[in-house]
Amino acid sequence: MAEPTPGPDALDLRKGLPDALKVLLADYPREAWAADPGFHGLVSFWLDRHQMFRRLLGMMQADTVALRSRDIDPRQFSQRLSRLGGTFVQELHGHHQIEDHHYFPVLMQKEPAIARGFEILDSDHHALDGHLDGFVKGANGLIAALADPIATGSAAARFDTDLSRFETFLDRHLTDEEDLIVPILLRHGERSLG
Ligand SMILES: [Fe+2]
Ligand SMILES: [Fe+2]
Repeated sequence: MAEPTPGPDALDLRKGLPDALKVLLADYPREAWAADPGFHGLVSFWLDRHQMFRRLLGMMQADTVALRSRDIDPRQFSQRLSRLGGTFVQELHGHHQIEDHHYFPVLMQKEPAIARGFEILDSDHHALDGHLDGFVKGANGLIAALADPIATGSAAARFDTDLSRFETFLDRHLTDEEDLIVPILLRHGERSLG
């Protein structure tokens, strides 16, 4: 497994997949995915998982905004953050494991011309691991600060900023991964995953 790639394709720098890796996406554009006969099943399930990660992060962002404006009780915030954050970290780790060990090795062989995309995605997972560690530290720090209103304010502001950065990186990864993988699955069929 590669360490996070420095350079223009790094998760925190790129604005999308390089054009050379979007050749299959041109044949299977995003607007046509849902109408494709191969969409329902594994593809729709996998895209739903990505939506769940986006939703969980959005809920934690909304709660943090509510905490900053004192629209949520700190104890309730703490319980929700523990529950949502725990699910987020656990499910995202499990999702990456399946992709790293099962999806990526099989799918990159189906379309060698765009195999480089899987190196980028693998490297993203390492970068996201670092962001997840930071997320856990930030969440624990914020929960510990909740007993003190002044400490809560500054910890919540920091956590809010960190969540926004994380959202940008996570969405970049999920979107690019979808753009690379869904066309392969639609072309070769979900049974190609074995
Ligand atoms: Fe991924
Ligand atoms: Fe994924």
